Amino acid sequence: MTSPPLDRIGVLFVCLGNICRSPLAEGIFLHMVEQRDLTNNFDIDSAGTGHWHIGHPADIRSINIAHQHGITLPSLGRQIDASDFTRFHHLIALDDSIAEELKQLGAPAERVSLMLDYHPGTHLCDVPDPYLGSADGFVTVYNLIEPSCRGLLDQLVARHTLHPG
Ligand code: 4NP
Repeated sequence: MTSPPLDRIGVLFVCLGNICRSPLAEGIFLHMVEQRDLTNNFDIDSAGTGHWHIGHPADIRSINIAHQHGITLPSLGRQIDASDFTRFHHLIALDDSIAEELKQLGAPAERVSLMLDYHPGTHLCDVPDPYLGSADGFVTVYNLIEPSCRGLLDQLVARHTLHPG
């Protein structure tokens, strides 16, 4: 399989519908990268394994919790495809079933990890799917994803020579 380009670090967040969890992770990570003036070092996106929400904006509950933290969610829903496995160095699954599905779809296992692998102190493996629940579930999701994105970015900053801009 062709390797991703070396000029930018490709980070793709993946959940089921690409309207609740992964767009929130993408928006939080983008915001952190911008705050550290590192935008040009990264290629950041999100996708879903499902096809139901292609072209849809993020769920209003994800948009609202992001706005409460000064974050906008830019991208529209899309479905993962094989070109993502050559474009992105890091395929960050929001839960274990998504990680397994990515590998079954042909993603190189060494590039697949779980969002909560980067959390500094949780015993959980999965960011719970909040879609069918109440707005409270999105607070839980935010509070799991935010420190995980920080942990991921700290790890990448420590491992790579990055440039401002
Ligand atoms: P997400 O949540 O994977 O966090 O975007 C879901 C959104 C939609 C559906 C499932 C999960 N759905 O079945 O439509």
